[in-house]
Amino acid sequence: MGIQITPSMLAADFANLEAEAARISGADWLHMDVMDNHFVPNLTLGAPVIEALAKVAAQPIDAHLMIQDPDRWAPAYVEAGAGSVTFHVEAAAAPVRLAREIRAMGARAAMALNPATPIEPYEDMLPELDMVLIMTVEPGFGGQKFLDLCLPKIRRARKMIDKHGGDIWLQVDGGVSLETIERCAEAGADVFVAGSAVFGADDPEDMVSQLRSAGGR
Ligand code: DX5
Ligand code: ZN
Repeated sequence: MGIQITPSMLAADFANLEAEAARISGADWLHMDVMDNHFVPNLTLGAPVIEALAKVAAQPIDAHLMIQDPDRWAPAYVEAGAGSVTFHVEAAAAPVRLAREIRAMGARAAMALNPATPIEPYEDMLPELDMVLIMTVEPGFGGQKFLDLCLPKIRRARKMIDKHGGDIWLQVDGGVSLETIERCAEAGADVFVAGSAVFGADDPEDMVSQLRSAGGR
């Protein structure tokens, strides 16, 4: 599997999500940021919006749940049609059980780590996961500055994943742009979320392909 680009729809026009998805036909996934005003200080969208977009978009949905109690709420996002569901380990009461439930329902299970959350305690959980998301900003808002302090953790996560040998993707999210994507790729990331870089560009479609070639180096 080569690298993948998953534009964050948080930076798209919420009044025209179907049209916005069509503007990035070269994207591998649509990254949907679910925020609940509790786990993060912002409120965005929930399962009904994902269900509506999943029905009309060509790309599969990559749901990023920045919510409390994902144990309770994550299954609804699989039912809504998300192909990948990411929960935050800081918020999950039983991450192993939750990852198994997401997989059993037929979606890819992913676990996200905030900038200050270490990866090491979760090494034994890797076989339960299809993807690890290393946040490169504090979650809650688009358009923030990339945190270079997260790069060593991406490297350590890459080593752990390679050691386990499974097909586990390594995603980065936050401040990813043409300026920062090569650093992430060099550290070992292979799935790149980009919100403002894509939808802030004059030509979002062209930015997706530029990010893809920069991240593939
Ligand atoms: C931040 C979200 C990100 C955000 C990325 O909490 O998880 O997905 O939309 O936006 P940019 O690429 O602008 O940092
Ligand atoms: Zn996100």
